[in-house]
Amino acid sequence: MDAIELLLTRQSDAKLTAPGPNSEQLDIIKQAALRVPDHGCIAPWQFIVVQGDARHKLGEIYHQSAVAEQQEEKVIKRAKELVLRAPMIIIAIAKYQAHPKVPRIEQVQSAGCSVLAMQQAAFAQGLGGVWRTGYFAQSTAVKNALNLDEQDEIVGYLYLGTPEIECKKAAKHKPDDYFTYL
Ligand SMILES: Cc1cc2nc3c(=O)[nH]c(=O)nc-3n(C[C@H](O)[C@H](O)[C@H](O)COP(=O)(O)O)c2cc1C
Repeated sequence: MDAIELLLTRQSDAKLTAPGPNSEQLDIIKQAALRVPDHGCIAPWQFIVVQGDARHKLGEIYHQSAVAEQQEEKVIKRAKELVLRAPMIIIAIAKYQAHPKVPRIEQVQSAGCSVLAMQQAAFAQGLGGVWRTGYFAQSTAVKNALNLDEQDEIVGYLYLGTPEIECKKAAKHKPDDYFTYL
């Protein structure tokens, strides 16, 4: 797949199954994460790879956090299942660091670029992925359990695996609806 085809056809796949990325594929995904724009070259990122049985540890963290933070019963009930929706999850974190020229939003954006870059790297290798957030990205209890600092931001959980169904999505939006010229 060439770069333009990747950019114009990238899509998310919510239904993912095994196999997940193998070690060579994962290595490329990791390298893509680190090749994103980074104002000030401060590398404001951390990534946690969760696969196989480690997903149950993450499910436990989700469950305990949802209970501790008194989430709705349906959130608590699903907590342990959510992590089983793909063979691999990469947690992408913006490691905020005070900097005179790089405000927090730019550091978070850079980490967000990493999520997209990883999804693209997976897609280009024939894998599928979906970027998810929700309560478990906002939860202080989850951040604590993952040993993150208060000012860190979980920018996303990138679910990776093999698409369960082959479903090519057509382009949704037209450039003229979003681009104007000054
Ligand atoms: C920051 C961010 C957070 C997202 N969180 C979720 C989420 O929690 N659950 C979900 O189903 N989709 C979420 N999405 C949307 C999907 O990742 C995906 O973009 C969407 O399903 C559209 O599919 P497409 O990428 O094929 O166009 C999120 C997207 C972004 C950019």
